[in-house]
Amino acid sequence: KFFYDSDADLSAIRNKKVAFVGYGNQGCAQALNLRDSGFDNIVVGNIDDEYKPRAIADGFRTVSISEAVSEAEVIFLLIPDEDQQQVWKDQIRDHLLPNATLVVASGYAVAFDLLELPETLDVVMVAPRMIGAGVRDRYVAKEPYPCFVSVERNPSGKALQTAIDLACAIGATRGRGAVESSCLEEAGIDLFAEQALWPAINTCFLQAFQVLKGAGFSDEAILFDMYLSKEPSEVFERASNVGFFKQLKFHSKTSQFGQLRGTKNSDGTALKAQFEKVLHKDILSGEFAKYWSNSLAGGATELEQLWKDVEQEPIQIAENNLGLQK
Ligand code: NAI
Repeated sequence: KFFYDSDADLSAIRNKKVAFVGYGNQGCAQALNLRDSGFDNIVVGNIDDEYKPRAIADGFRTVSISEAVSEAEVIFLLIPDEDQQQVWKDQIRDHLLPNATLVVASGYAVAFDLLELPETLDVVMVAPRMIGAGVRDRYVAKEPYPCFVSVERNPSGKALQTAIDLACAIGATRGRGAVESSCLEEAGIDLFAEQALWPAINTCFLQAFQVLKGAGFSDEAILFDMYLSKEPSEVFERASNVGFFKQLKFHSKTSQFGQLRGTKNSDGTALKAQFEKVLHKDILSGEFAKYWSNSLAGGATELEQLWKDVEQEPIQIAENNLGLQK
């Protein structure tokens, strides 16, 4: 299901008191878009860091997070996902107005129950599939961009209309419209790409490098052919324009034959089983979210260790030797 500009009515919602918690990539872009859509009662809640002066310079009244939410009817939670649980607990939860609406731009914290949500709170997702600068530039240029919208909690019975109106106000219901989704779907697909798809692709590159190096080919020739030439980014660019396989038509006949035959002869069974495990056992069960929250609370030392481990990969060593690390 899609939602369009014509489904929105900004006349009443424009006068609501809106708080932006966070003025980073999304916070800055969405606050400016909302203001240009006629919302004139916006406050930014931000900690005392380098983002605060930016909000002030852009002309927003800027206060502490708890002060901002204490007067807001609509709260955009736009700080990094990994900080939301703690900030919610310490600076937001106890300061909310009853009957406020919480707006998230990513499903993660809501899908995995990281926020203690009062019964009376409406909760919606308006999640642009676009970096903050794109959200702002396209709004100004009157161009569309993709966005997911969902209703997660609806004690008022009006949460869907609120979500559509806010999506419209940030410019996300133009063109093909905003797509109805859910926090679990948005976060599940995102985490799956991060924890299954890309690790598989990363592993392909690590193994390919070692096999080619083992055959005596030079580091620089392998790396240039594999990705320094930017060929993979061109392939994905074309895949998004014309289709995943159809982009092969831009390659030579030899390449088309090799890729189609090689794909047909590849046994994906083990990979599929691994993907199923990651999706169901780790992600949808909530195990990953719990594990990562604990790791963050302990100082994220495992992430540091993973960065150290990757330094030892032959592909990383080859890049360092070629002076590519800068
Ligand atoms: P960001 O990294 O740009 O956020 C910076 C803001 O968060 C600043 O205002 C900073 O003061 C605040 N902040 C950071 N750590 C904090 C802490 N410990 N306590 C209090 N405030 C803190 O975040 P970004 O990228 O704008 O993401 C915000 C939300 O939007 C997230 O839920 C993210 O998943 C979602 N999103 C992000 C997209 C992107 O392109 N970056 C795209 C679509 C959704």
